[in-house]
Order: sequence, then structure tokens, then C-alpha cells
Amino acid sequence: MPEISASAAPLKPTLPHLRHTLGHFPTGVTVVTTIDDGKPVGVCANSFVSVSLEPPLVGVFLKNTSRTLSSLRRSGSLVINILADRQEHIARAFAAPDGDRFANVDWRVSSLSGAPVLDGVCAWLDCRTDRMIMYGDHYLMLGCVVDSGFNTDSMPLLFHRSRYVNISG
Ligand SMILES: Cc1cc2nc3c(=O)[nH]c(=O)nc-3n(C[C@H](O)[C@H](O)[C@H](O)COP(=O)(O)O)c2cc1C
Repeated sequence: MPEISASAAPLKPTLPHLRHTLGHFPTGVTVVTTIDDGKPVGVCANSFVSVSLEPPLVGVFLKNTSRTLSSLRRSGSLVINILADRQEHIARAFAAPDGDRFANVDWRVSSLSGAPVLDGVCAWLDCRTDRMIMYGDHYLMLGCVVDSGFNTDSMPLLFHRSRYVNISG
């Protein structure tokens, strides 16, 4: 039997321990976008989840302090942009608290919901907001997918143990 107690959490893990443990799960990286009051808005999120095929539902969890939440609530639409491995700088820009997040990326509005689709992404899902549900200190944004697209030439950007990982080397 391998010895695991040295790295196991106490009964109720501390916040840093829980964060560190959860960071062992590798994820892709998305930028969730919308248009609010005529301006593009977006945030970096790796909590994206595919929820249902029929009906087509996807979700992303945003912290209750996220400023993007109120824009998403007002607009009723969102695009989930799945970043490609060359787009780490875009992930960093959309995770930063300040600065013009759209300064170094071209984008177009999606034809159905009108939210921004970023150039060069691996895949995108255009959604109308289905509902927002509060869980703990996050809101689950559920989106009903109305359109989608992908680029077979690019590999996804990954995130693992607090680091961006480039799988194409
Ligand atoms: C790789 C990565 C993934 C992230 N995933 C999420 C997420 O799923 N949900 C979330 O609320 N914040 C997430 N964040 C943090 C937000 O991007 C960050 O706090 C941002 O500044 C919030 O911006 P806002 O307040 O304008 O919405 C992530 C950050 C990084 C670097």
C-alpha cells in the first residue's frame, strides 16, 4: 500500500491546500465574452464544462466578485472561446485585473448572439444565457448553444498546477 498521508489534506483542507489539490486537474483555457453597453467584455476561465447535448448546454463558473458577471446578466448572451496554444498572452490579458483586455486580439461579433468571437481560437460556442445559478462563492452560467465552430489546425492551451502548458512543444 503506497504511503499517501504526507500529501493528504487534513479533514477540512485549508484554502491554499484545496486550491493546490484542485490545480492537479488539467484543464483547457477559455475566454468568456459578451457585449455590454456596446463594448466588448471578457474574462479568462478554466471552469468550462460541457453539460448536455440535447438540449445543447454548456456552463462556466464565475466567482461572485467577477465584474464580468453583471455584463453577462445584462446582455443575455456569451461566447465561450477555447484558446489555442499560441494564445497564452490572451489568457493572461483576460485574467489581469486591469488593462484593455481586447488590445492585442482581433475579434468579430457572432452572427447569432452578437458576442465576440476571438480570432485564432481552437473552437468557439455562441450561446444565449439559459440561467445563472449561485453555488457557494461562484455562479454557474448556463448557456444554450446557438452556433459553434472549430479550427482543426490548432492545439488547445492547457492549464495545470498554476502553469500554462503548451502541448505542441
Ligand atoms: C487560467 C485561469 C483560469 C481562470 N478561471 C476562472 C474561472 O473559471 N472562474 C473565475 O471566476 N475566475 C477564473 N479566473 C480568474 C479571472 O480570470 C480573474 O479573476 C479576472 O481578473 C476576473 O475578471 P473580472 O472581475 O473582470 O470578471 C481564472 C484565471 C486564470 C489565469
